[in-house]
Amino acid sequence: MNIEKYIKLIGNELLPNIQLTTDGPFEPIIVKNVSNTWKTIGSGNYAGVFLHQSNPKWVVKVYGRKPEDLKKEVNVYKKLGKHESFSSLIDYGDNYLILKRIEGMNLFDAVVKGIRIPETVIRDVDEGIAYARSVGLNPFDVHGKNVVMSNGRGYIVDVSDFYKHGKCRKWDDLKKAYYKIYLPLISKYHPPIPFFIVNSVRRGYRLYRKIKKGNK
Ligand SMILES: Nc1ncnc2c1ncn2[C@@H]1O[C@H](COP(=O)(O)OP(=O)(O)O)[C@@H](O)[C@H]1O
Ligand SMILES: [Mg+2]
Repeated sequence: MNIEKYIKLIGNELLPNIQLTTDGPFEPIIVKNVSNTWKTIGSGNYAGVFLHQSNPKWVVKVYGRKPEDLKKEVNVYKKLGKHESFSSLIDYGDNYLILKRIEGMNLFDAVVKGIRIPETVIRDVDEGIAYARSVGLNPFDVHGKNVVMSNGRGYIVDVSDFYKHGKCRKWDDLKKAYYKIYLPLISKYHPPIPFFIVNSVRRGYRLYRKIKKGNK
């Protein structure tokens, strides 16, 4: 699709029809969407992600919080260029990015739905992380909701924190859980795990890391 037309659809049919709110500074974004043509396909701590029915190849990530960080994510994408373990930046506006769509689901949802996560996904993300380091970025905040799997391959879809400093353990910890718990136990029988349990594990993990950090 032609980019001017797509940007018009964002201005006319998406932005006036969505509302991004939150319950508190550490709570994720809540999306209200009354558009007939744009579908909400994801949300995170900063943004809502939307798909227009006429163009399945792109998505729009609208920042609901910290719009000043948008420029940082743009710069990360510019540094990354094109690599098979990442989405890529098509264009951007004041409060949104247009990104290549990775058709599939994030790892958190895959566990909730009982869809098997193959090891290739883990390896692809490892490769993406190594590549990001090689271009001078710091792969930060790589976790289950920021990795989308598509046809058995893994893609890091959220690079908004790659400019940060310090060590982020999330991916190492997720990998440990994958090899110690998921592969031997869960994936064998691949039961769906109820949302509230996966969400509690996520919350528990965040709390555990916070306490550990505080005790240092
Ligand atoms: N390029 C993409 N293609 C498909 N789905 C995506 C894409 N980017 C994000 N998503 C979905 O939207 C969710 C939120 O996007 P994310 O970039 O993580 O936002 P935030 O910065 O707010 O955490 C992700 O968990 C994923 O499910
Ligand atoms: Mg995210």
